[in-house]
Order: sequence, then structure tokens, then C-alpha cells
Amino acid sequence: MREVENKSEVYIRIAQTSECTGALGIRGKGKSWVLTVLMEIAALSGWNFIVFDTKGDDLFLDQPATGWQAKVLEKKYGLKPRGWDTVFYTFNFPYGLNGVPVKFNLAPITFNMIGFGHLKKLGNLLTTTEKRLLVEAYLSNGGPYARLEDVIKYVVDRKKDKAGLLLALLTSGFFADDSPLHPSNLLQIALKHHFTVINTTFLDSSVEDLGYFGTLVTINALKNYLKTLSEPTRLAVAFREMGETTKRYGSEGPLWHLAREIESFIRIARQSTLVVTKLFWEAQDVKDVPHTILHNTEVLFVHPTTLLQESQYKELKAYFEIPSSLMRKVESIGDPGPGFFIMLTKSGDWLMLPFPPPLSKRVREISGLSEKEIEEEMKHIDLPRMDIKPLLEEAITRYKMWAKGDELILEPTDVAVELRLSKPTAALLYALRHAPVRRQGMVAIPRRDLSSFMMKKFGESMAMLLGPAKLIPALRKSLPLLRAMHVNIGRGRDGDLVFGYPWEEYTRAYDQIEDVVEFKLGLVEVMER
Ligand SMILES: Nc1ncnc2c1ncn2[C@@H]1O[C@H](COP(=O)(O)OP(=O)(O)O)[C@@H](O)[C@H]1O
Ligand SMILES: [Mg+2]
Repeated sequence: MREVENKSEVYIRIAQTSECTGALGIRGKGKSWVLTVLMEIAALSGWNFIVFDTKGDDLFLDQPATGWQAKVLEKKYGLKPRGWDTVFYTFNFPYGLNGVPVKFNLAPITFNMIGFGHLKKLGNLLTTTEKRLLVEAYLSNGGPYARLEDVIKYVVDRKKDKAGLLLALLTSGFFADDSPLHPSNLLQIALKHHFTVINTTFLDSSVEDLGYFGTLVTINALKNYLKTLSEPTRLAVAFREMGETTKRYGSEGPLWHLAREIESFIRIARQSTLVVTKLFWEAQDVKDVPHTILHNTEVLFVHPTTLLQESQYKELKAYFEIPSSLMRKVESIGDPGPGFFIMLTKSGDWLMLPFPPPLSKRVREISGLSEKEIEEEMKHIDLPRMDIKPLLEEAITRYKMWAKGDELILEPTDVAVELRLSKPTAALLYALRHAPVRRQGMVAIPRRDLSSFMMKKFGESMAMLLGPAKLIPALRKSLPLLRAMHVNIGRGRDGDLVFGYPWEEYTRAYDQIEDVVEFKLGLVEVMER
């Protein structure tokens, strides 16, 4: 047992080993921030992350810290804020999605991600009869090999009048035959970015079980896939708020199953030889963390106030060496406030240290802030949101067609880019951001100027995208997106289109979807070279 000599030893452990790492602290003590800092340290040394974000903590991983946070980073720690290369996913269920930022991709679940027995775990969403029917439809059509269309047909043929909810679920877009979340796609995606975030917070509370179900299925499929890999792979996986995800309420609700799934993931990940998996988790209470996970956690960052709670201390002592010299120190310090954590390890090395805020943007807890500070915070959380209505209308149309007995050819879902952006719209968004305009306040620019800017920069074919013949039909379809991005469309004296937009708001919104725009325009590879 020893007190570690300096911080860099701690950082090196986080960056270079594959040790499972946890953060523990009561609400408001900074455990989500510290976990993010630890993840950033690991990302800097080359770990790629899949993050299961059940709390919305990771919405701004792609943005550099701003405002107060940036000031603290620079002045107190001499660190420069930065954002990370991040892709965002949430589950595709238009009936229950709200406020999804446009930078998110809506991703379905495939039947071959689903394990035998999973379908029973759909929670309270379906009736018992419907659950049974779904299992039957799945198994009769080849289980993991089942095609969505065949499963729907089966359900319609048997019981369409008694299986309304099930039919709505099957035709909603939540399931498909291919998905970016399918582990073979997911791993490839994850290894190309710093962070791949899978978020469940945009599902209405009435359908939150579906979020747990999707998460459970995704974790399980990933686990099974990693077991089969024949080449060495290095992957980090983070689970936010174990209390949220693993609470054991009810007897065996979806949360309970998710807890078992995470446990099993951690056990398998620690054993497999080819895949080096580094796990990160956070929790408010030791009791929220399954034993297997505590058992497999080599490094724990715990807030002093947690150690001072008798019940927490007792429980932790079973898993970590906690020297009495450390406890005397903790007692004399009391509550040092947020951001101050004690590293505990299995072998008894420990250190108490203050952490800087993450380099990427966090939203501060609003309570305790002044009005001016709140205003500053709000400026940055005003993300452009997706218009779900067209997706919902499509889902309802599909439902009606099937319910009527007409067959409908299901369009294969577009893997990855679900932010529906036509090429002309992408060209417009790009030009609004990069054309030479007065870069502040309200900006107004004629279509013709945007077109000649694209001509100069990329040549004729890009300029054509902004010609009236291509642009106007595309605009009709993109009005909700443009509105979300604060772009107004008017006509000038000559009858041609003019675009008006507030520069600051627009650029902030644009930065959220920059990757998608540049990908659509085929600029990504060019820029990387
Ligand atoms: N390292 C830090 N330095 C300064 N303030 C911090 C730090 N970490 C957290 N905070 C403050 O504490 C608040 C709560 O942090 P958070 O990580 O959300 O807590 P928890 O996840 O434990 O509930 C943050 O909104 C921020 O204002
Ligand atoms: Mg938190």
C-alpha cells in the first residue's frame, strides 16, 4: 500500500493499461465530468470508445469547452479546450422520439443482433400475447436469420386485429435488416472515431423500455461478435450511470436484464485474449454496481464524501485496499467540492487529486448559477433538432398498408446517414458557412453569389447544385432542417432567392452537422489527404 507519488502516474495508468476504471460519487460531485476526463485521457493515447449514454452526458463530446469551463481550463490548468471526433446514434422509433439533435443518426436494431430469449425482455411495451406472437414470428422465420418483412407477414397473417402495438413496432423503423449498430458495422465505425455515442435519452418516458431493450441488444451483439474476432482489436467501452441502467426495480424488468448484460459483457471482455477491452463506468452508490463489475474494476475514482458514508466505505473495503492513513486524511478534509477524487486500486496504491474539467464541452448544472451564467450556458445547448414528423408519417403509412393487408416493399434502411440531406441542400449549407460574408449579426446573401462562390472553389458541378433547377425542389424538402438552422428564405428584387441568417446561431448549428454535410459533398477524403 502506498500513496502514489504524482499525478502523471495516474494518467499513465488510465492511458496505457486496459484496467477497468470506475467513478463513484453522490450526485453533483463531478463523477460524470471526471469520467469524461479519464475517457479523454484514454482517447488521447489512442483508445476508441463506444459510450452507452443513458443520461445525455455526452451530447457535446464533439465540441470544445466554452465560457466558464474554457476559462478554468486555460487559467487554472493551462489546457486548451478541444472537441473530439464523435458519431452519435439513437434508436429509431419515430412514435416516441423527441428533440433529437440533427447531428444524431437514427439507427435500427436487426434480428440477428437479438439473442434467443431477448424478445421476452421488451418490458411493458407489448401485451403478453403480442410478446408471444413476436417470439413465434421470429423463430418461425429463422430466428437471427429472420427478415423483417417475413416477420411482419407472419404477424399480419395470424393476428393483425389483436396485435396493433406489435405491428406498429415492427413497421416503425425500430427494426431493419441492416444497421450501423450491427456489431460488424459498429466496430468499424467505432475504430474510425474517438467516440461513438449510443444515446437513449430522446425516447419518451412511456417507451423508455425500448431504449433499454435496444441498449441491451446492442451490448449483447457486440459481446458475441468480439468473441469471434480473429485479429487483435483494442476497444474502450463506457457505461454512464450504473444507477440508471442497472437499478434492480421490479423483479426482472428491462433494467435488471440490462444490468446482467453489462456484467456479462465485462466478464467476457476481461477474459477474451484477442480483444483488449478497456471499460469505464460511473455510479452514485456502490450498491448500484453489480459485484462482478466491482470485482473486475482495478482502478476506482471515488469522491471523499462517499468514503465518509459508513455503508459505502464498508462495501468498498471488500474490493479495494483502503489504508487508514488515507481515511484520516479524508476525515480531516471533509467535502472538498466537485472535481476532487481519490484513486483507489486493487493493490492499495492511492492518491487524492483535483481534476480539471473535460476539454470538451459540458453543460453545467444550472442550480447555483447566476442569471448571466445561465444565459451563457443556454447559448450552447441550443442544438438544432431533427424534425421527426416525416419519419412518423412514413411509419404510420407503413402501418396502415400492412394493417389493410396490402404488401409494401420495405425500403432498405440507409446505413449510417439518416440525417436526410440532399446534395443541393448540403451545398447550400456549406456555402452559407464558407462564402465571404460579413461574419456577424444578420447576414443576407443572394443565391447567385453562393453559386459563384462554389464555382470558384470547386468548379462547375458544385455550382450547378445551387442552380434554381436543382436547389428549389431540394429546398422544399429541407425546410424543417433549414428552419432548425435559423436560415430564412426570401426573394430579391430580381426574383431570385436570397438567404438570411444570424451568423453566430447558424455557424453554431452548422458545426454540429459539418461532418455530414462534407461527407454528402464528398469533401471528407479530399480534406484528409
Ligand atoms: N473538475 C471540476 N472542476 C470544477 N467544477 C466541476 C468539476 N467537475 C464538476 N464540476 C461542477 O460540478 C457539477 C456536477 O458535475 P457532474 O459531473 O455532472 O456531477 P455528477 O455526475 O457527480 O452528478 C458540474 O455541473 C460542474 O459545475
Ligand atoms: Mg452525472
